[in-house]
Amino acid sequence: MYSEGMFLPAQVIQRKRDGRALTEDEIRMFVLGFTRGAIPDYQMAALAMATCFHGMNTEETLWLTRAMVDSGQVIEWPRGGAFCCDKHSTGGIGDKTSLILAPLVASCGVKVPMISGRGLGPTGGTLDKLESIAGFRADLSLAELMRVTERVGCCITGATPELAPADRKLYALRDVTATVSSLPLIVASIMSKKLAENADGLVLDVKWGSGTFMRTREASQELARAMVGVGKRYGKKMVALQTDMNQPLGACIGNALEVREALDILRGEPGAADLQAVTLALAAEMLVMAGAAKDVAVAGEMLHKKLASGEALRKFEEMAAAQGGDVRQELPRAQFVEPVRSSVTGVVQAIACDEIGYAVIVLGGGRKAAGETIDRAVGFERPKKIGEPIEAGEPLLLMHHNDPARAMKAAAMVRQAYAIGPAPAPARPRLICERIV
Ligand code: URA
Repeated sequence: MYSEGMFLPAQVIQRKRDGRALTEDEIRMFVLGFTRGAIPDYQMAALAMATCFHGMNTEETLWLTRAMVDSGQVIEWPRGGAFCCDKHSTGGIGDKTSLILAPLVASCGVKVPMISGRGLGPTGGTLDKLESIAGFRADLSLAELMRVTERVGCCITGATPELAPADRKLYALRDVTATVSSLPLIVASIMSKKLAENADGLVLDVKWGSGTFMRTREASQELARAMVGVGKRYGKKMVALQTDMNQPLGACIGNALEVREALDILRGEPGAADLQAVTLALAAEMLVMAGAAKDVAVAGEMLHKKLASGEALRKFEEMAAAQGGDVRQELPRAQFVEPVRSSVTGVVQAIACDEIGYAVIVLGGGRKAAGETIDRAVGFERPKKIGEPIEAGEPLLLMHHNDPARAMKAAAMVRQAYAIGPAPAPARPRLICERIV
């Protein structure tokens, strides 16, 4: 055990730089010192970079997560209440599952206190989407988060300053020092926020492909295993589904457009098959985990009933109202809607899905720098999917925009993102390819 005076941050950095494993004490003192400002950003950045190069073993990753959880408060839910369960997605293009899933699962009697994020790189953020609803507040205090969850059954809001403050500070530093893409840092970042939220169980949607930061199935599987491992060591019920993100999920990409699509599904409309499948699979895992259904088949039936009866939609409206939102007001609509046409005939072979996300940013629907205001009306609708045939002159998708100059650039990016060839498209990987427990 170190005493404050004996602890030398440079020695810890040196050990990691040389590829050695750190002790629990070293990690803890570093993280807690950084959080309270005793260790400067440049030393934390150096340790993050050394971690990028040399990684961390399972124990170090757990200790890092633990230190980050312990940097702040852990929510104490009332004893004996309903099972509390959350879902986390590693992020993708057109991924609006949380908007449907949180009220849907809550309408089945399971508590869902969902702490979500904003757009990250090309991927959209649940909070940005929800803020398309007039008045919706995604910055609830800890007390409000707990109150809304207890009263309504679900809540979707940003991380509060009390929960894992080390992550807030470290994430900002990683963002500007090219140290985001390190597996132990990602695991500790995601899991520390979720563990501070202190749900009984967590379902993970760990994506892989061109529209997310884990490009290969292998890398995303490694991430899923590591997160499930850390959660279980904390005594949480954990399931991860590994899902395909090589093309946009569902029929819309862009904040208000995605809320509209989610609301249609909550109204009981069938919606896009891929979005339905991923949402219902994740929601079913939550119900089984909570003991609300004996298996995923029974859970699926319950979920379909809640959608058909309108109960899930009412729960969404209740949650939005509790967070200041007025769903009766019209969602923002772009001034122009026009097709982006293919210049060739063939079959869609592949989509550089991240480019579609960056094209939304070019339209103004995402941020180039933290804190920028965004245009919630813009985005894309009905993208052609992999394997679909297309004629020259036919729309690849519909573009919603408010600025012809931006639209021209975004349209060029969309055309560039589509690989169209004469042959049939290669066999598609399964949408949900792995279940990791
Ligand atoms: N999301 C997070 O919250 N943290 C990461 O490091 C990556 C994605």
